[in-house]
Amino acid sequence: MIYLGVDLGTSAVKILAVDEKGNIIKTVSEEYPVCYPHPGWSEQAPEDWWDAVKKGIKALTACIDRSQIAGIGCAGQMHGLVILDKNDEVIRPAILWNDGRTAKETDYLNEVIGKETLSDETANIAFAGFTAPKILWVKKNEPENFSRISKIMLPKDYIVYKLTGVFSSDYSDFSGTLLLDVKNRKISKKMCEICCVREEQLPRLYESYEKVGAVKNETAAELGLNENTTVVAGAGDNAAAAIGTGTVGEGRCNISLGTSGTLFISSTRFGVDSNNALHSFCHADGNYHLMGCMLSAASCNKWFMEDILHDNDYTAAQKLIPDGLLGSNHTFFLPYLMGERSPINDTNARGTFTGMTSATTREEMLLAVLEGVAFAIRDSLEVARSLGNDIKSSTICGGGSKSKLWKQIVANILNVRLETPVTEQGPGYGGAVLAMTACGEYENVKKAAECLVSYSEVIEPDPKLVDCYNLRYSEFSKIYPAMKSLFSQLI
Ligand code: XUL
Repeated sequence: MIYLGVDLGTSAVKILAVDEKGNIIKTVSEEYPVCYPHPGWSEQAPEDWWDAVKKGIKALTACIDRSQIAGIGCAGQMHGLVILDKNDEVIRPAILWNDGRTAKETDYLNEVIGKETLSDETANIAFAGFTAPKILWVKKNEPENFSRISKIMLPKDYIVYKLTGVFSSDYSDFSGTLLLDVKNRKISKKMCEICCVREEQLPRLYESYEKVGAVKNETAAELGLNENTTVVAGAGDNAAAAIGTGTVGEGRCNISLGTSGTLFISSTRFGVDSNNALHSFCHADGNYHLMGCMLSAASCNKWFMEDILHDNDYTAAQKLIPDGLLGSNHTFFLPYLMGERSPINDTNARGTFTGMTSATTREEMLLAVLEGVAFAIRDSLEVARSLGNDIKSSTICGGGSKSKLWKQIVANILNVRLETPVTEQGPGYGGAVLAMTACGEYENVKKAAECLVSYSEVIEPDPKLVDCYNLRYSEFSKIYPAMKSLFSQLI
């Protein structure tokens, strides 16, 4: 049998087909635009996602035996607010995970409702990218749109809805709405009241590996799929990537260097960071995880290379960085191009280069970008370590993990051994594994991951560079606190 995994990312949807042994048969990718209507805002048209998914599935299945496709699992960018009216029309563009417009609503939730109440109800506090503050923003700023809301959904749930007609979500993705009682895996009535949401506007919740339905007849006909193709609830992209990298069970870690950067720690037990700097979410294997999310990771490198240097040969540019510069670069970069989520929770924070002299080179600035992202991941890792998580090794995935140099930098800055999965397909692969589990190929997600995921490359931290980078990190750690109040004064 064949299974499809859909990864609804921020710049493109990536869809892959795997056989029942987990071998990847084919992958396709279809891009769509992101719109930044104001600085710090980001939106996308859900209709563009659906067009791209349909195009991608058609292209993917053109040269495989479609009758063999048994199941589909979707993973997607988290937290995005998708709202539909009573005729199932999209009311306004989706407000994405890295959109920072909700500073006021986030402050209201954290300060007036109070962090303690939020944490008791949901295991998390409010961050600007989460869905609940966005609902409050629409209520205040677009009352006409708010009054028309019939369904509230997350990005990948829109795709599942278009495929099956079933209004569903899964616990991992729904954790990021701030409407879920994460510990007990149920919608928080109190949070619904606070956010003026009626429960009937929210989807039915499932475990990620549960079947929610089958592809609708007319959609199956359009896409050339079997009518009874199983569709699972799917997962938030980080939980799905964790499955695809074998990050299941107790105390395993995955780092994702995608548009966002995440540090993901799986656990069989529910746990909350007492300062709520890390998110406490449900995992797609039926358990839980802690996660630090930085809003700009590989996107910092893309911005610097393509928009600033007008160079898209990443490999050649990185080759010019002298080995001796690692650990001794005095140029620093704060990677807060879209504000920052974990652990500083500051929508005003901005990207900044500092430490340059008239002798500073392009290579030093490029290295500072790669290092700045790794330092910011270390900020979340330090929080995780302070909670007693002894992380000595991690898997790594996402576009940035294609660079061996960047992985070496991350390994040395975090002092963590890094393993790269053979099938470097992150969330899409996780989505396919969820579909395989629902269709009975594996007893559960953990067994599936154990059988399917193997690792190709191991990068060990180099003790000398670890020492040098400890020193650099202590310098990096002084920059944001010194600039914080300035950032809040810049418009
Ligand atoms: C996680 C988060 C991002 C998006 C990116 O909390 O906001 O990782 O899911 O797609």
